Amino acid sequence: MKGVLICGGLGTRLLPLTEVTNKSLLPVYDQPLIFYPLQTLLSAGIEEIMVITGPENIDQMTGFLGSGSKFNCKFTYRVQDEPKGIAQALGMAEEFSAGQDICALLGDNIYFDTISQHIRSFAGGGHIFVKEVQDPKRFGVVEVDGTKVVSIEEKPQQPRSNLAQTGCYLYDNRCFEFIRNLQPSDRGELEITDVTKWYMQNGKLGYTVLQDEWIDAGTFESLHKAAILVRERKMGQHKEQVQETAQAAAPQQQPMIGQ
Ligand code: DAU
Repeated sequence: MKGVLICGGLGTRLLPLTEVTNKSLLPVYDQPLIFYPLQTLLSAGIEEIMVITGPENIDQMTGFLGSGSKFNCKFTYRVQDEPKGIAQALGMAEEFSAGQDICALLGDNIYFDTISQHIRSFAGGGHIFVKEVQDPKRFGVVEVDGTKVVSIEEKPQQPRSNLAQTGCYLYDNRCFEFIRNLQPSDRGELEITDVTKWYMQNGKLGYTVLQDEWIDAGTFESLHKAAILVRERKMGQHKEQVQETAQAAAPQQQPMIGQ
């Protein structure tokens, strides 16, 4: 399986921050945002990753990520000249995919669940990760019935459920043929939701409901919330480590009491 990090787009909801740099390079507590979806791919054992970004920020992107050697992976880069949709960006990875399955991740999505085992066990067709949200109109909205996905709509006015399609897409290699023939939506983009819908209509589309936090960090509020959550988790881990170290040290300290 190969990985694709989709980091183009104009990031207009984050202006003027995105005048300075690409959304995926903005800080989330102590790391650039892209670090988190990258970590998701690396945890799943994916070592060959294509990074797709716009022409404005390709230099900064390659400057930060480099060849991949510091992350134990190998990056290939492509420039999406204009933001004509997430599916258009993914279509640029066809040659790179070399016939393999794809794990495509949006560069502004942070997963707090461990989804690596689902990525590793992907067995063809399509697979998506959904999350209950308060504001489904902002997202692709998924309706399920038992183990089946029965409808998917991009940013509907009247959502049929509160399950958002999150930005990690597992597709077999047939996605590229479909994207080649895909027509732009009313907003002029090749929609990733149409790709997922094709898998829903043509056989196998699996889904996993996320239990832990998930963030699409594309707005000021969600970017801020992401930083708070990451900090909380890191502080929590730090506290646990300190307690473990103190416990491990405790027996050795006991003799000193009598000294
Ligand atoms: O985060 C999950 C949501 O992401 C899904 O629920 C939606 O179905 C999906 O369309 C997408 O919606 P957004 O409105 O959040 O997409 P956004 O325009 O923010 O783009 C997401 C990422 O993809 C972002 O890192 C920029 C990149 N992108 C976007 C477009 C339109 C590209 O690389 N090229 C593009 O042409």
